[in-house]
Amino acid sequence: MIGRLNHVAIAVPDLESAAAQYRDTLGADVGPPQDEPDHGVTVVFITLPNTKVELLYPLGDNSPIAGFLEKNPSGGIHHICYEVEDIAAAAAKLTADGARVLGDGKPKIGAHGKPVLFLHPKDFTGTLVELEEV
Ligand code: CO
Repeated sequence: MIGRLNHVAIAVPDLESAAAQYRDTLGADVGPPQDEPDHGVTVVFITLPNTKVELLYPLGDNSPIAGFLEKNPSGGIHHICYEVEDIAAAAAKLTADGARVLGDGKPKIGAHGKPVLFLHPKDFTGTLVELEEV
């Protein structure tokens, strides 16, 4: 069901220094910061030859990554995102198999303008998994 690794998202306490490290030390193709108010984050997209890395920084008062950064003050991998062809079919199969889809269980439009959903990390070996329809 899952296809390519779409991105790895890393929550960071200092967006500017994390972006500079990927650009200057790791020599990656680093984009400009983009505010995503609907998602409560500012994102820097890093394009690698085979996937993307997304640096996430809290935006606004109710950022979904604020609690994560409190627990992980130096930052850390927040989620990984796999591509699926049919997100409704994926949600139905996962729910039937006992996995928990976060929120109301329905796909939402994600940071790339495509339908996404998140799966409970306790159901997936401690990893928050995002599925994105491509
Ligand atoms: Co993501």
